[in-house]
Amino acid sequence: MQTTTQQNQLVDHTIQSKMGLSDKEQPDLSALHSETMRAIVHRSYGSAEVLRCETISIPTPGKKQVLIEVHSAALDRGTWHLMTGRPYLIRLLGFGLVKPKQPVPGFDVAGKVLAVGSEVTRFVPGDEVYGIANGSFAEYAAADENKLVTKPSDLSFDSAAAVTVSGITALEALTDVGKIQSGQHVLVIGASGGVGTYAVQLAKAMGAEVTGVASAAKADLVYSLGADHVIDYRTKYLDEMNRRYDLIIDIGGRNSISCLRGVLKQRGTLVLTGGEDGNRVTGGIGRQLRAVLMSPFVKQNLKMFVSGEKQSMMVRLSEFIQSGAVIPSIGQRFSLDEVPTAMRWLETGNAKGKILIVVKPSAKK
Ligand SMILES: NC(=O)c1ccc[n+]([C@@H]2O[C@H](COP(=O)([O-])OP(=O)(O)OC[C@H]3O[C@@H](n4cnc5c(N)ncnc54)[C@H](OP(=O)(O)O)[C@@H]3O)[C@@H](O)[C@H]2O)c1
Repeated sequence: MQTTTQQNQLVDHTIQSKMGLSDKEQPDLSALHSETMRAIVHRSYGSAEVLRCETISIPTPGKKQVLIEVHSAALDRGTWHLMTGRPYLIRLLGFGLVKPKQPVPGFDVAGKVLAVGSEVTRFVPGDEVYGIANGSFAEYAAADENKLVTKPSDLSFDSAAAVTVSGITALEALTDVGKIQSGQHVLVIGASGGVGTYAVQLAKAMGAEVTGVASAAKADLVYSLGADHVIDYRTKYLDEMNRRYDLIIDIGGRNSISCLRGVLKQRGTLVLTGGEDGNRVTGGIGRQLRAVLMSPFVKQNLKMFVSGEKQSMMVRLSEFIQSGAVIPSIGQRFSLDEVPTAMRWLETGNAKGKILIVVKPSAKK
């Protein structure tokens, strides 16, 4: 009969063989005190009820991955889409046809590197990092080294966890896609949300005059981010506007493309970044695709994009944060067990700033 140690060695060996890792390439996991961790798991699509806190195996990082001890994570709309499986198009895009392929949700992460894969060159155990780890709602998460940057020592784990998914989307929308220029008039629709709070601050830092569109209840937040003007989307603002914009970043809008084109300058650029309208199959993506198909036939630039999660963007964003030009806007904090409650809070639309999941509370907030 095998002893427990022999059984564990057998399990370890099986994991290594599956990953194609020889004993020599296997990361040193001796810093771990256990082989299991607490994590949020969803084994089917649905509402927040599908999220359970379970004890599961700690992931083994691949050759180009690091294992992170998660201090903080953050919630975003994308994680909600992958929980519900809606719009259905995302299931066809490889996230799992009938159930989520990745059972542990969460992307934004900040924590400490515990172990590194054999081909990792940028990090060593003990480094404090932040970025994107697929499965960050857990005590430990494996992340590609090129989806992480070094956490500045004066940035807390909580603030760092609130940065990446939303921040790089805003930066890419404004720069690579929107080609923002200093002095331009920029309209940010959805200015009070995860992506919008970064878009307003970044556009201001790049010298634009910024108008933010949000609910009246969050106007103060948008002004505090530096917006020059704030408009309540519940008014008929697009019909009543006299101003024309050089650049519109539409993150939360449900407006038709023709309405948006009406407030865009003749050679202006519309960047459709998000939006929760549309049918169950294509959701907000339907409107984005229509805009791209129309663009070659009009003088205005109508664009959509999906964040490339580029490391170069993470580095640029980190520079804005270190300079103090951009400050992560943090709303409510929840513990790992409370992720279902956090998800319901996101669904209410009342959240102000990023929703944090504090996995390992630390003295540095
Ligand atoms: N392209 C990409 O790669 C990418 C990346 C990340 C996210 N996204 C998408 O971007 C969208 C926003 O993400 P998020 O994390 O910023 O979401 P969020 O935090 O929920 O923010 C949504 C924003 O939309 C505003 N809003 C709601 N209804 C509106 C309406 N009728 N008209 C105008 N604004 C309205 C909200 O204002 P109030 O809160 O004041 O009501 C809020 O500012 C989602 O659709 C998400 O899937 C795309």
